[in-house]
Amino acid sequence: MVVVDSVTRAGGSVIARRRTADEPAYATASPTRRPADRAAARPRSATRLAKFHVPEILFGPGSLPEAAHAAVRLGARRPLLVTDPGLTEAGWPAQLCAHLADAGLRATVWDGVTPNPKDHEIAAGHLTYLDQRCDVIVALGGGSVIDAAKGIALLAGNGGTILDYEGVDRMALPIPPLVMVPSTSGTGADVSQFCIVTDTRRNTKITILGRAMVPDVSVVDPHLLTTMPDWLNAATGLDALTHGIEAYVSRAHNPLTDHHALQAIALVGEHLERTMDHPSEEAARTCMAQAALEAGMAFTNAILGAAHAMSHQVGGLLDLPHGVINGVLLPHVIRFNAEQDPHRFVPIAQALGLPGDIAPDSDAGAAEAAEWAAWEVRRLADELGVPKGLGEIGVTDADVGLLSVMTLADACLSTNPREADQADIETLFRAAL
Ligand SMILES: NC(=O)c1ccc[n+]([C@@H]2O[C@H](COP(=O)([O-])OP(=O)(O)OC[C@H]3O[C@@H](n4cnc5c(N)ncnc54)[C@H](O)[C@@H]3O)[C@@H](O)[C@H]2O)c1
Ligand SMILES: [Fe+2]
Repeated sequence: MVVVDSVTRAGGSVIARRRTADEPAYATASPTRRPADRAAARPRSATRLAKFHVPEILFGPGSLPEAAHAAVRLGARRPLLVTDPGLTEAGWPAQLCAHLADAGLRATVWDGVTPNPKDHEIAAGHLTYLDQRCDVIVALGGGSVIDAAKGIALLAGNGGTILDYEGVDRMALPIPPLVMVPSTSGTGADVSQFCIVTDTRRNTKITILGRAMVPDVSVVDPHLLTTMPDWLNAATGLDALTHGIEAYVSRAHNPLTDHHALQAIALVGEHLERTMDHPSEEAARTCMAQAALEAGMAFTNAILGAAHAMSHQVGGLLDLPHGVINGVLLPHVIRFNAEQDPHRFVPIAQALGLPGDIAPDSDAGAAEAAEWAAWEVRRLADELGVPKGLGEIGVTDADVGLLSVMTLADACLSTNPREADQADIETLFRAAL
């Protein structure tokens, strides 16, 4: 369990607090909605070593200029702004460049990232970093841009090629400071210790994991979410939901991560559909930004599970949106895990609004609640227009064997609550076809 070892060594701490009267309601969306749920939601204290590692976070509508101030605080003189062509078209990097200029910094903009960032793109970004003698990296974009920025920083500090660093804590030397500005409400990459990169030789995504990958500062401005196309909003919202659920049931969870995981699940359940129907409404976007952030804070410390281990292989093979693949896989993985122990899924079901006629106290009731949670995730995916199966997005039965072998090697599988061998993973892939 190398992964768990790396989790328990992650540093930092967080102090729980209540919302004050003048704070907005989105700050404390309740994961539980009925009195009967209170027992499940009752705070638990950590009974074994629990560490919690997150960056400095600046959160709120209109917070984008804070990224420039953060770069200054981190000693930037020649920042590299990593972004991608979709963001350039949306106009956000130009706005950030203006804020950096106001702070006295002229940024080198590099927008050579594509979705599911490729090993060679990170090499190209690293060359730009070296050519321009940059010192701090600012990333503005979705998970792809953020992971590319982490990869560039890793190479700037440690040399070699990005594929050398697959696995846990493979980097030995410090990396340049990182300021992250997420533009999607999903990945949590801006706070996570993960860097996910496509290995173009093997057509798979590798996972690089280590506390050095946790950025210095994350600036979350929900305004950036308003230019997301609907499909991206749906995909990234389902990614955040998958993070919350997998972190909550992970073998490496603890009470600090549980709190954020349940909060994220409830926020997605309450607000994702509203952002689809009312895309420019600030309150719902802000709740989704908070959901993605809290899901990220949960999973970077608790790690993930089989849905992500499987999703990484499909994403590497077919270059498809990560959150869409998760949305298809998640109900199947919930059922598989709940077969062994459904009780852990009860608070998840309650956070998603479990109907009052399901009493989850007994084993049978818990199994019913877990099944309802799987059904609810699929209902949400249907509402969002996510394909019913992987077959619809290009996966064939012939792919299942190789996808399953590669899933077994993914770091995320080791924290899945139920052991899964190759036959189990093949069965899951076939069920999701
Ligand atoms: N490091 C982590 O912890 C972590 C966690 C989960 C997922 N990921 C990775 O993140 C990647 C997926 O990231 P993503 O889902 O955020 O999308 P993305 O970064 O792949 O972006 C997808 C597309 O959306 C566009 N886009 C992004 N934000 C936009 C905005 N606000 N307005 C207009 N267009 C916008 C981009 O230009 C791009 O073309 C995958 O590679 C996945 O493996 C990483
Ligand atoms: Fe994810």
